[in-house]
Amino acid sequence: MRSAASRLHKGFSYERRFAACEAHAVKDAAAWAGQWADWAPGGAKRAEPFAHVVLDLGCGKGEYTVACARARPDVLFVGFDVDAICTLRSAEQAAAAGVDNAVFLLAEDPFAAAEDGQRALAGASGAGGVPALAPIDAHASRASRAASGTPHRSGAPAELDLARAFAPGELACILMNYPTPFPKKKKAHLRLTYLDRLMGYRRLLREGAGIRLRTDSQPLRDFSLTQFELAGYRVVRRTDDVRAVCPDEPWSAYERKLVEQGARALGVFAVPGPAPAHVQQTAPLSLVSYLPDNLDALDYVPHGMQGCVENLRNRHAHERARGVPEFRPPAI
Ligand SMILES: C[S@@+](CC[C@H](N)C(=O)[O-])C[C@H]1O[C@@H](n2cnc3c(N)ncnc32)[C@H](O)[C@@H]1O
Repeated sequence: MRSAASRLHKGFSYERRFAACEAHAVKDAAAWAGQWADWAPGGAKRAEPFAHVVLDLGCGKGEYTVACARARPDVLFVGFDVDAICTLRSAEQAAAAGVDNAVFLLAEDPFAAAEDGQRALAGASGAGGVPALAPIDAHASRASRAASGTPHRSGAPAELDLARAFAPGELACILMNYPTPFPKKKKAHLRLTYLDRLMGYRRLLREGAGIRLRTDSQPLRDFSLTQFELAGYRVVRRTDDVRAVCPDEPWSAYERKLVEQGARALGVFAVPGPAPAHVQQTAPLSLVSYLPDNLDALDYVPHGMQGCVENLRNRHAHERARGVPEFRPPAI
């Protein structure tokens, strides 16, 4: 896999870029845990705390986060993206917009995990020796560690160590705006709504707070519904057309692009209920299992599944042409 660093132009200087937006970036997230409501640009403390702290997980280039910050000056929006360059761009957006209620979490050494597995294994630490951003690898059972704060093997981008970045009950909401769907079964654990992760978010959410998912992907939405249930969340609101309900809320460029391609924004808001006695993954993990039976009637193919839907359609057409009765394997 190409690292974030390898995609950069020759004269790129992370430190120089960071210096220009550092008032809106935090490298040592753990140092602010429990005190985010007091954050002010440059790391100063606000006189009047924010009413709410909201995490935008997978914030991309930050335009959505910054637009939300403009719309709600009483809320602090904390953004993080596993792609260090995205998070840097987000901080630049916030600095350019001059908002005082958007901050983005950056790794101390953003390319350490991708470029030097051994160094990351030894602990890419934030100031004070606390690993504010822990590395993650690509093993299913390790998704829970990202939420619980246990560092582990690397070779993949640095993932936010939520358990260290926020105090229990500190968050009023976690936004997941068009999270990466990772359709394949072997990458299911990387989905932000994977069971182990949902279990980890529970303790960070304050009473009545929840997770707001928006996606163009009906399979990801349906998979996420299984995960919410397994993790003991209650779905409070759900819509197949977010924009019919709230047309004026901020849009990201990504959402605009998908809508132009025929997507509709699917939305779910879920809050933790009583914790499950046993946490066990029982849902089908490949997003293919959540596709509708009649693929020919699908007028929009979710982002990331175009290749697989095309293959399935071709296979079905081929079987029909050969007179083979259609067979869809059970979703297991
Ligand atoms: C499709 S983009 C959406 C960006 C943005 N939320 C928007 O609506 O425009 C998904 C983003 O999620 C990020 N991402 C994927 N896994 C992540 C993780 N575990 N933690 C944080 N960000 C993640 C990706 O790097 C990517 O920038």
